[in-house]
Amino acid sequence: MDATEWDTRYRLAREAQAGQAGRLWSALPAQIVQDTVSPFTPGRALDLATGDGRNAIWLAGRGWAVTAVDFSAEAIGQAREHAAAAGVAVDWQVGDATTWDPAGETFDLITVMYLHLPEPALRGVVERAAARLSPGGHLVVLGHDRANLGTGAPGPTNRDILYTPELLRSCIDPASVGAVRVMRCETIRRDLATDPEAPGDGGAAFALDTLLVAEA
Ligand SMILES: C[S@@+](CC[C@H](N)C(=O)[O-])C[C@H]1O[C@@H](n2cnc3c(N)ncnc32)[C@H](O)[C@@H]1O
Repeated sequence: MDATEWDTRYRLAREAQAGQAGRLWSALPAQIVQDTVSPFTPGRALDLATGDGRNAIWLAGRGWAVTAVDFSAEAIGQAREHAAAAGVAVDWQVGDATTWDPAGETFDLITVMYLHLPEPALRGVVERAAARLSPGGHLVVLGHDRANLGTGAPGPTNRDILYTPELLRSCIDPASVGAVRVMRCETIRRDLATDPEAPGDGGAAFALDTLLVAEA
């Protein structure tokens, strides 16, 4: 989907006031972001493909200085409103994650949550994100796992944009991104009956996500 199509999705969700009070996604940050990031000392964070900002807003509320990027201007507009309502400041930017490049800037934390792109584009995003980590900084990437196909779990059904641990691990190539160490790279399971982020519709009991956590 291109930026215009995403704009339409966000606008329709807002207009419908359906599902999650006019939001396309839950207002809650991803549980894995909370679990992974909570032990870290807040610093500079970058949330790529931020959507309407649930993870960026949660990070800002915990003291991180957050830059958040999405190519949907509608999503960024809604994110600004949610941040204002939450009373937090975030540097919101409309930009394409495949090309966005803040010259010379580095971050203590970079999150990329549910950004689904064809492999070459995703590989470029993850490689460039890894290269933008400050020493000791962390990269957290999460997306729908290819093993969901055929299970009825929510998420994309195009296998070419779904994740596998092998794909994400291969994006952290020491030769191209320097001394970045993979701490976790695995398929993790979300129980859709109890997941407050994305309750299931009864089609599947659980969903599988691919998680990468890397440290510079
Ligand atoms: C499934 S949503 C996830 C949003 C957010 N990360 C979250 O977890 O709530 C995917 C987001 O990726 C954005 N996106 C897709 N391709 C992008 C690109 N090339 N550059 C920037 N944003 C992109 C879409 O606009 C959408 O907001």
